[in-house]
Formats: sequence, C-alpha cells, structure tokens
Amino acid sequence: MPQTSKRVTPNSLRTMKKSGSKIVMMTAYDFPSAELIDAAGVDVILIGDSLGTVIQGKKTTLSVTLDEMIYHTRLVARAARRALVVADLPFPYAQLGPADAVRACAEILKESGAGAVKIEGGEKRADVVRAVTDAGIPVMGHCGLMPQEIRKLGGYKVQRDEAALERDLAAVQENGAFSVVLECVPHEIAARQTARLGIPTIGIGAGKGCDGQVLVFHDLLGYHLPENAAPKHARTYIDLGSIITGAVQSFAQDVRNGNFPTDAESF
Ligand code: KIV
Repeated sequence: MPQTSKRVTPNSLRTMKKSGSKIVMMTAYDFPSAELIDAAGVDVILIGDSLGTVIQGKKTTLSVTLDEMIYHTRLVARAARRALVVADLPFPYAQLGPADAVRACAEILKESGAGAVKIEGGEKRADVVRAVTDAGIPVMGHCGLMPQEIRKLGGYKVQRDEAALERDLAAVQENGAFSVVLECVPHEIAARQTARLGIPTIGIGAGKGCDGQVLVFHDLLGYHLPENAAPKHARTYIDLGSIITGAVQSFAQDVRNGNFPTDAESF
C-alpha cells in the first residue's frame, strides 16, 4: 500500500525516483475500475489510447478521438482521489505540431480533470513537449515502442537502438517532461538509460531496472477471451475472463431452468 494518502503529483514521482520507491501505474477507462485501482493504492492512473484496442476492439490506437479521450478521462478523474490522472494525447495532435498539440492538451485538462498528459515521441516531438510544458501542462513522455507509429514500424517490435533511445530520452527530459514511459525496450538498455536520467522511467516490457511499472488493467485481470491472450510482458494475476463467462453461464442456466428470480428476489 502507498506510504501516504496525499494526492500524487508530478513532483511526487521525481521524489519517488530519488528515494528509490517504485512507481505503480495502471490504465483505466471508466469510473468503477478507477475507483478500485485508486483504492488499491496505485500512484498513477493512465487513460491510455489503448482505449482503442482494449475497449473499442480496434487493431490499433490510431482512430481514438480527442472527444473519446476526454470522455473516458472524465470518468476516471471523477473516481480518482489519490492517484495522479494522466491522459494520452491521441493521434495525430503531436504529429500536427506544437500549436495543435497545446490546444488539444489544454482541452483535455480543462474538460476532463486530468492532472497531466502523455505524449508519444522523443527527439522528433521535442518542440511539442516544450510547447505543452511551457503552456503549464505537465507532460509524461513515451519512448521506445511508440504505438502511434505502428504503420511505419510495421508491427509491435522491441526497440533495440540504444543511441536513438538515448537521444529521444534526452530530448524529452530537456524539454520539461516530468517522467517517461519506456515501452518494449531490452531490460539492460532500459536499466542503463534509467540510471542516466534525472526523471523517472515507467516501464512496460522494459524490465525491472525502470523506476516504475505500468500495466494495462485488462491484461492484469485476464479480462478477455482466452484466445486474445495478453502480451508476454504483462503478468495476468487473475483469470477474470473465465470467471465472468462462468457467472454469465450460471445466470443463463438459472433463467432457463426457472431458478431466477426466486420469490425473495421479486417484488
Ligand atoms: O495506451 C496505453 O495504455 C499506454 C500504456 C501501455 C503505457 O500507452
């Protein structure tokens, strides 16, 4: 459980890196999940644009809209009491440049109650990170595998180019980001880069040398059909998919057999 019940801020994450306390981050997309995650003591709740794949059943994150991000972030922000709420800037606002990115990030903060935004991209998005932080909006970076570049990358692949990663991370840090997600990076590289950086790294598929870890809520819970297995780097703590299927099958059987509702469950 967390050490304090005080609201987590971007500054708290920097303090946690200095003191060696691991940062715990998890995605959420709705009110009840966020309430449970917050009550469990998670430090950061991310409304990821994984919304597109996890909630909307799409193949990529590219079609998620700004309005959809704002809607889901509002549900989460309403539930979170302690955790820092971070919302993804969806494609293609960072790619359009600093002015569009600042406008979209400001709208996210104003309309949803998020405390920060996450922006994918390193060196290439340095001007965007600078403009958004200069506008007073806290930015979490996202380097390594960047799912918004999936068409160019040709798939979800481990990112092994350490020199490029180092340049990306330096650009994100120098332009004011308060932390950075490291996705699908070999663990030795992630550990070396984490040690070099002043801001905390939050890993996903990047090994235990990062300052914190993030998982997608539905992967952690096994909240899907067995054939839609979670990626290798996600640890599934419970097989909720089978539990839900079993519960729904029991309900269907009770209805069909006349065992639901009983008189006690009727008016
Ligand atoms: O969109 C998302 O959920 C993310 C996490 C996987 C870090 O970016």
